[in-house]
Amino acid sequence: MMFEAKISLSEVMAALFTMTLILISVRIIGNMTKKHILPPGPWSLPIVGNLLQLGEHPHLSFIQMRKKYGDVFLLKLGMIPVVVVNGLDMVKQVLLRDGESFAGRPKMHSFSFFADGKSLSFSVEYGESWKLHKKIASKALRSFSKSEAKTSTCSCLLEEHVCAEASALVKMFLELSLEKGAFDPTGITTCTVANIVCALCFGKRYDYNDEEFLSMIRINADFLKATSIVNPADFIPWFRYLPIPAVKAAHGFYEVLNNFIAQRVEEHYTTYDKNHLRDITDALISISNDKGSDGKAPPLSNDKIISTVNDIFGAGFDAVSTCLFWIFLYLVNNPDIQTKIQEEIDGKIGLRSPRFDDRKDLHYTEAFISEILRHTSFIPFTIPHRATKETILNGYLIPQDTCIFVNMYQVNHDETLWENADLFRPERFLNENGELNKSLVEKVLVFGMGIRKCLGEDIACNEIFIILTTILQQLKLEKCFQDQLDLTPVYGLSMKPKPYQIQVVLRT
Ligand code: HEM
Repeated sequence: MMFEAKISLSEVMAALFTMTLILISVRIIGNMTKKHILPPGPWSLPIVGNLLQLGEHPHLSFIQMRKKYGDVFLLKLGMIPVVVVNGLDMVKQVLLRDGESFAGRPKMHSFSFFADGKSLSFSVEYGESWKLHKKIASKALRSFSKSEAKTSTCSCLLEEHVCAEASALVKMFLELSLEKGAFDPTGITTCTVANIVCALCFGKRYDYNDEEFLSMIRINADFLKATSIVNPADFIPWFRYLPIPAVKAAHGFYEVLNNFIAQRVEEHYTTYDKNHLRDITDALISISNDKGSDGKAPPLSNDKIISTVNDIFGAGFDAVSTCLFWIFLYLVNNPDIQTKIQEEIDGKIGLRSPRFDDRKDLHYTEAFISEILRHTSFIPFTIPHRATKETILNGYLIPQDTCIFVNMYQVNHDETLWENADLFRPERFLNENGELNKSLVEKVLVFGMGIRKCLGEDIACNEIFIILTTILQQLKLEKCFQDQLDLTPVYGLSMKPKPYQIQVVLRT
């Protein structure tokens, strides 16, 4: 028996329409599933996750992992999932183009005590009130940076403080050299930088023998030695309750620092004069008293003023001194480069004191500083970020609240951006006329970028320039003959050189 199939045109059309619909749906579902895949990454163990795979230098281990998993990969630090972001383009996606989606900070145990949890830099809070806080802190720094110098020929109060402290450091280097021959420059350099920050925040410098000042510096050093952005207490919750030094040091440090700062801010309230801003604390009080034309509540509470001073104090203290430790080490390790900087200082500044404004004329010196920042990348990661909402990055799903590590070290050593990236070569930042290639300088990633960018970049660069040029104008730094210099960093929140000694000779 034969069946005669009679199919009408409308049935054919309906079948075609259904098939098309199915194909489109399969495609959409396919795309959706593809998008909703988490980033790839290495297998992890229970409890410790991938912590054991990080070795002594996590930034370098991440560079190896990138070769296998690409620019965006996921691992588990202890029990916490962390997305590591590498490659300039992907870093720009996270910090600039999708900046708002990644501008939070994760809840981390070691940062939670800082400024009693109200810190601008570390607090988990992110939103309109945080943005206002950052805007005010930035305005206070700017308005203080323009405060007039008291007496000298300096262009502003900040320059006056920095120049005075740099000259004091030269004297201390000479004294230590006379007393001991060879000496470790790091302790005294930390005192110098801490004093600049004290002047910046409280309008006051401390005697290098002041007990309170010294104990704060000591506790700071202990705290930094014991912490890093892969502190187990941040990633394995029960580590917090163990009597391990890393955890105890954080408690002790924050308590002393918080008390020290709260006391200074209290003193400022009693002596505040709105017509004469002495420092950043005064600038913050002034902005806070300024209720604006609509008569609304002050934008910053007293608590927030204390926490902001805390932030600026903490941030300005360690990063600048660490940069100087590296600078001294590289100068003794590269005597030819030291001579070139001295020749530039002699030719462009001569015997007068260096000033901020000289930066625009000392191209080689500026190139040297940029190369130090790039080559050492002594702050290898930004402060950890947090995804403020579910986001797709490089085709992968990043769930809300995921912790994000941005590997700045990788960007600064990427062979596709930097020729012979591992070579230390200040000349890479100069053009054929010996002028600074500013667009290349801007590619060095050390202060972060976008919403969470460092507030102190200008202050830090001015400070480093004045200290470097004041020292090299008067002194020659030399390594000790027996010293085998080791440039391998000791990993931490900011990476420090291993202990070393230098000798100094007065230039004639
Ligand atoms: C060479 C010196 C310095 C370096 C390399 C440096 C680098 C950084 C980096 C990498 C961040 C994190 C950016 C991010 O999380 O995306 C940061 C944040 C910050 N820095 Fe600096 N910094 C330096 C000096 C300073 C100084 C002198 C100050 C203050 C006067 C300062 C104030 C801050 C503040 C307040 C933040 C927090 C910003 C936020 O969370 O939004 N820094 N800095």
